[in-house]
Amino acid sequence: MRVAIFSTKPYDKRFFDEANQRLIDNGGPSAGHEIGYFESRLTVESVSIAFGIPAVCVFTNDEVDPQVLSMLSGGGTKLVALRCAGFNNTNLAEAARLGITIARVPAYSPNAVAEHTIGLMLALNRKFYRAHTRVREGSFELEGLLGFNLHGKTVGVIGTGRIGAIVSQILTGFGCRVLLNDPRPNQSITNYGAEYVALDTLFNESDVITLHCPLTPETNHIINHEALSKTKRGVMLVNTSRGALIDPAAALDALKAGQLGFLGLDIYEEESDFFFHDLSGKVIPGEFSSQLMTFPNALITGHQAFFTTEAMTAIAETTLNNLTTFERGEPLGLNEVTIDMIR
Ligand code: NAI
Repeated sequence: MRVAIFSTKPYDKRFFDEANQRLIDNGGPSAGHEIGYFESRLTVESVSIAFGIPAVCVFTNDEVDPQVLSMLSGGGTKLVALRCAGFNNTNLAEAARLGITIARVPAYSPNAVAEHTIGLMLALNRKFYRAHTRVREGSFELEGLLGFNLHGKTVGVIGTGRIGAIVSQILTGFGCRVLLNDPRPNQSITNYGAEYVALDTLFNESDVITLHCPLTPETNHIINHEALSKTKRGVMLVNTSRGALIDPAAALDALKAGQLGFLGLDIYEEESDFFFHDLSGKVIPGEFSSQLMTFPNALITGHQAFFTTEAMTAIAETTLNNLTTFERGEPLGLNEVTIDMIR
C-alpha cells in the first residue's frame, strides 16, 4: 500500500525501513509497502503532499482536524495510521463522517513510558541534572542537592491503564503507598497493595502525583488552580501523558508559590511549535522558555518517554501491519480508533 509518512525524522525512517524489509523478507516484495517519507508536519499547508495516496501515517503533533481530514478525503486518502497511542490530535467525528479509518498503535511499549516517568521522579528528587553539571565543573558540593526517600512516600497515579499500571507496580517495589484514580478501575493492580481512592483524596494525600490518563474534554486541565490548591505543599507533579492535562498558568503560579515543589514534564501544551526540533541558537517564544525552563525544580524532556529501541520497533511493525490489514479489508480490531472511544 502507498503511504505518506509525515513528521519523519531519521530515526523514523530507520525503523520503518527495517520493519518493511522484514515484511518483504518474510512474504516477498508484495508484502512490503511503498513508503514516502516527508519531514513536514501534517497541516492544512502540507496536506496536498498526500493527495492521491491512500494512507497517511502521522505522529502526535500532526494536525488531523476537520479541515485536514476533509482535504485528505478529497485527495483520496482512506486511512490515517497514527504511529502513537493517543488520538487527541484527531477529529474522530469528522473522520467517521468522511469514512476515513483511523488506526493506531495502542501499546508499543508502556514500559518505556513508565520507566521514563520513574526516571523523571528520581532525577527531580535527587537532582541528577544539577549534580552532573556541578561535577563536570569540578564542584563536589552537596548543598542544594538534598532529596527525599521515595520509600514510604505516597504517590498518586491518575489513569491506571497500560502505563499507569506499570508505574504503580514499580512504585510499589520502591515501597511507596500508591493511590490510584481511574473511572475504570483495574483491580489487578490492587493485588500488590495499591488502592483506588477519590480524586480529592489522591490530591490531598500524595507526595508525588503522576498523570497517565488520555487527553479528553474531561481531562483537559485536570491539574488546574483548584486541583493544585488541594495538594500537599511542595508536591511533585510528573506528566508524561499529554501536555494539556495541566493548565500551564496554574503550574507556573504553583511553582512560584512553592505549592508545587517539583515539576517533571515530558510533554507540554504548546509543544507542537518546538518539540522534536533543534532550536538551540534560536529564541523559543512563549512562557515555556521565559519561565518554566528557568525553574531549578522543573525538569523537562522533549516528548522522549516512548523513545526506546523496543518501542520504535513495535511502532513501525504495528503501523505497517495496520496498513496490511486495512489493505486486505480485514478488521483492525483494537488497533482501530472509533468515535465510541470518546463517548
Ligand atoms: P490506556 O488507554 O491503557 O490507559 C488510560 C487510562 O486512563 C484508562 O484506564 C482510562 O480509563 C483512564 N482514564 C480516562 N479518563 C480518566 C480520567 N478522567 N481520570 C483518570 N483516569 C482516566 O493508555 P496508556 O497506554 O496507559 O497511555 C496513557 C497516555 O500516555 C496516552 O493517552 C498518551 O497520551 C500518553 N503517552 C505518552 C507517551 C510519551 O512518549 N510521552 C507515549 C505513549 C502514550
